[in-house]
Amino acid sequence: MATAHNKAKQGEIAKVVLMCGDPLRAKYIAENYLSDAKLVNEVRNMYCYTGTYKGKEVSVMGSGMGVPSIGIYSYELYNFYDVDTIIRVGTCGSYQENVHVRDIVVGVAASTNSNYGDQFNLRGIYSANADFSLLRAADKACEKLGLTAHFGNILTTDTFYDEDKEYYKRWAKLGVLACEMESYALYINASRANKKALTIMSVSDSLVTKVETTPEERQNGFTSMMEVALEVAIGE
Ligand code: HPA
Repeated sequence: MATAHNKAKQGEIAKVVLMCGDPLRAKYIAENYLSDAKLVNEVRNMYCYTGTYKGKEVSVMGSGMGVPSIGIYSYELYNFYDVDTIIRVGTCGSYQENVHVRDIVVGVAASTNSNYGDQFNLRGIYSANADFSLLRAADKACEKLGLTAHFGNILTTDTFYDEDKEYYKRWAKLGVLACEMESYALYINASRANKKALTIMSVSDSLVTKVETTPEERQNGFTSMMEVALEVAIGE
């Protein structure tokens, strides 16, 4: 069923979708990792490709940046395209001294300063979490590939450029590993639709040490993260 944001036909999107913020990154993944990749959506240039990885059908799609954008695309995938699993692959900013650039961070749960959860009128704060079977698969894949991975709470923030430069420290005190801008919405949409989600990220910068990765380091970190995500995807 085509939507206002996605013109793919029913059946053109796989049950497992990798989502990355940048649609051109989705194109890169499709061209470099998938066999027989076919472009199934290009509305607003939010590319979605479907192909196979090690014989299993997988789609890869851009999500755009931030909660509202991934909120729309992931909702449609789960509810209108019958997608079962979304694995977000992205980058994050480290909040902890021991979480180094190029390490992998896996979001066991996502905290947030977004009001995305207000739509459920819960009179409380919903704790958004990843799917346990996907977490287990990611843990196994990281071990197999010999990668340093940190599993824990992440912050989905609405502000990339925050007025308060010390803001991150309050979340860091509570053990939050790193920040990004999408997972809270993805995890809530998955839970509401009784589907599965996981976020796997490569650390691109550190708010603690102010270290930033070079484009080359980002590419290496990205490759490791993709290998983990694809292993998880084909285990589904
Ligand atoms: N803030 C928010 N999102 C991010 C960051 C950051 O510092 N780095 C990578 N994604």
